[in-house]
Amino acid sequence: MNAGGQVVVIARVLLPPGRDRLAERFELLEGGLEATREDLLSMVPGANAIVPDPSVPFDTEILDAAGDQLQVVANFAVGIDNIDLDACRERGIVVTNTPDVLTEATAELAMALTLAAARRMSDAERDLRAGHWRGWDPAAYRGIEIRGSTVGVVGMGRIGARYAGLAQGLGAKIVYTSQSPKPEAESEFGARRLELRELLEASDVVSVHAPSTPETKGLIGAAELELIGPEGVLVNTSRGPLVDSEAVAAALENGKLGAAGLDVYENEPEVSPRLLEAPRAVLLPHIGSATVPSRDGMASAVANNVIAVLEGEEAPNRVV
Ligand code: DGY
Repeated sequence: MNAGGQVVVIARVLLPPGRDRLAERFELLEGGLEATREDLLSMVPGANAIVPDPSVPFDTEILDAAGDQLQVVANFAVGIDNIDLDACRERGIVVTNTPDVLTEATAELAMALTLAAARRMSDAERDLRAGHWRGWDPAAYRGIEIRGSTVGVVGMGRIGARYAGLAQGLGAKIVYTSQSPKPEAESEFGARRLELRELLEASDVVSVHAPSTPETKGLIGAAELELIGPEGVLVNTSRGPLVDSEAVAAALENGKLGAAGLDVYENEPEVSPRLLEAPRAVLLPHIGSATVPSRDGMASAVANNVIAVLEGEEAPNRVV
């Protein structure tokens, strides 16, 4: 029932566990996967809630087009770097995200990338499929083992901590960087907090789990990759701007980096052509949270947040 005549705009797509609950209560406008920015600008006037996703830059132009009745921007993601938070704060608009439900999926994907990159799986599979496999070769595709290695976790939040638990389960020693000490990770995994440079020097694997902010932009560039080194593995499942793709491609080409496993890129869905050609790189299309329970849980969290705000309650996952 939509007693108040409230309108919810889904910028692209919201999965049924969230979408259907919103449709029962509100008028829904949905852009679809191919929606352009112009489509979004034409849908938002009069909206009470808007549901963007990480691929939708959400800025003052959209806020202006939406109008003063807009109450909540419910991002279909835990990352909120696509949203101009200050602009929403200034206008008193609530911003929400979808934490927790994707922790396991994203940490597991980071571990899958760790193992796939450490064991050169992309190169090996590509060669096999191309008919280049000439039989068992003792020197081919040699990588590192996680047991006994040092795994560096950049950003010990929920996902970083779960990834650290998985790495420790495989027998790795854990070091981490974080703005503040994480006593739980230290007692649970024996994790040691280091400065970034020390972590890069000490680690066989470096996995990035920090948010995308102006401070973390370009966190891992050519100099940092050299510290990870010719046997080292870099994994990024956080956001593209933290890692310089061109620098990764160059370091893989010239042997300064052992391997890379990447799920995110600076200008998605574009990926550096040089990176696509680079050896020892496992590249995935931003699928960190792509499991059924995770994506359904995210959709459901979006609906919980929208319903709470439009019904005058506190949103469960309010960030602004
Ligand atoms: C998020 O929630 O921030 C993820 O990147 C989406 O998969």
